[in-house]
Amino acid sequence: MPDTETATDTGDVWEILTYPDKRLRSKSEPITEITDEIRKKGLALMDLMHHARGIGLAAPQVGWHVQILAINLSGKRQDGLIFVNPKIKSVSKATFSAGEMCLSVPGISGKVERPREVTISSMNFDGELNEFTLDGLLARCFLHEDHHLQGILFIDKLSPAKKLSIRKKLKRLGGPE
Ligand code: CO
Repeated sequence: MPDTETATDTGDVWEILTYPDKRLRSKSEPITEITDEIRKKGLALMDLMHHARGIGLAAPQVGWHVQILAINLSGKRQDGLIFVNPKIKSVSKATFSAGEMCLSVPGISGKVERPREVTISSMNFDGELNEFTLDGLLARCFLHEDHHLQGILFIDKLSPAKKLSIRKKLKRLGGPE
């Protein structure tokens, strides 16, 4: 199996959807109850992120349209984070611009301006609701993944000049949408 596929315990074979797949543009639904199946699939999502060497992966990127995000900045399994039904409470006025990539938009990178800090509430796999303030790369990664839950890709947030400069690459991927 290539690094962008995984078989879940529930028997699905997941692959990471890539631009311009329309399923990347669908909104994801909140989780109403954390069941064992949801936990298993969430762990499979983390595994797939790990295999694909990504620092973040959102459930809709595998065609599972629920509000679950996996993040792991270090790449070490024990550092993996799961966010269920995350909600943004506030963002800092201060922003910073940095390069981003996405497993669903292979071969393209570009700078995106995002808030430096974000305060969120999110559930864990025990169903506990917590509030966190994330900053720097973790805030950026969270906001990138959270956009996937709304059907937004980082390429939508590039500067107009950068958007023009990646047009050929998007065409190679089968775009524009
Ligand atoms: Co992404």
